[in-house]
Amino acid sequence: MLPPVLQRLRIPVVAAPMFIVSGPELVIAQCKAGIVGSFPALNAREDRGDTPLLDIWLTRISEELDRHNQANPDQPAAPFAVNQIVHRSNARLQRDIEICHRHRVPIWITSLGARPEVNEAAHDCGGIALHDVINNKFARKAIDKGADGLIAVAAGAGGHAGAQSPFALIQEIRDWFDGPLLLSGAIATGRAVLAAQAMGADLAYIGSPFIATEEANADPAYKQMICDSGAMDIVTSSQFTGVSGNYLAPSIRNAGLDPDNLDSAEASSMNFSDASGKPKAWSQIYGAGQGIGAIHEILPVSARIDRLAQEYQQARESLLA
Ligand SMILES: Cc1cc2nc3c(=O)[nH]c(=O)nc-3n(C[C@H](O)[C@H](O)[C@H](O)COP(=O)(O)O)c2cc1C
Repeated sequence: MLPPVLQRLRIPVVAAPMFIVSGPELVIAQCKAGIVGSFPALNAREDRGDTPLLDIWLTRISEELDRHNQANPDQPAAPFAVNQIVHRSNARLQRDIEICHRHRVPIWITSLGARPEVNEAAHDCGGIALHDVINNKFARKAIDKGADGLIAVAAGAGGHAGAQSPFALIQEIRDWFDGPLLLSGAIATGRAVLAAQAMGADLAYIGSPFIATEEANADPAYKQMICDSGAMDIVTSSQFTGVSGNYLAPSIRNAGLDPDNLDSAEASSMNFSDASGKPKAWSQIYGAGQGIGAIHEILPVSARIDRLAQEYQQARESLLA
């Protein structure tokens, strides 16, 4: 049984947090359209004045969703999630946890490290904690440390992808874990959302398709490259952040590098201390997963989710028939 906060979604989808790309506009549009919207806390970067930008974003998101719910009691917005990068170089983590706790963030997504105190903060304000993992060993550790649910990040996902087949990952985790389980990686159609459920996941976790939306905080050239590219244009490299990630080859060429001859970098070079990661990664070198071959046009978020919902419904009907 899913926790109440993950029930009653229009379709079983959580929009994945994306560095730089996910901001309040994207999150609000995703939630209003009926799926969980999310953003990394580190995306709220500037701290001008006394109030941290994260505080301002959370107030804005809550107020806009409240207004939507009052005007649309029959179609309330889905809840939102905030992603915490639990890495030793993230100097803001404690402050961001306090802000999220004060705003009673309903869903906490942790990546790059599982720590009991983050899960405790989520629980203390009535929220749930989902931890993203790339293998079964990390999955067990995350649950031991108090996460409520898991995001299985399979091969082909955008950002710091896993290396394992989604079948292998979900089968191994479902062998012992019957709590909330999300599947991440290359899911871009309603049919693929249904396939994730057939495989044993409760929900699909979708990132790259939302880059090609009007509300995404991404350069128009990045959005267009998502529409023009397919799985063969995605290269895996650790050169840009120190951890293996998936990137668009044309953006690597545009930056003057050869996507077929990239170096590898040490994991110890990963650094979130200035909240910007490596300067080139994500801003000039565009991240994306292998599922983008199914994305052909830049759409408003509501239209992208309408399409997913329609495809999901049709897939269910045709399989049941
Ligand atoms: C451009 C980009 C940036 C990302 N940044 C983050 C991040 O800051 N934190 C995080 O937990 N995951 C991040 N991810 C991974 C996503 O949350 C998710 O696992 C992935 O996008 C799912 O695969 P898909 O893109 O094929 O749908 C990022 C993914 C992309 C494409």
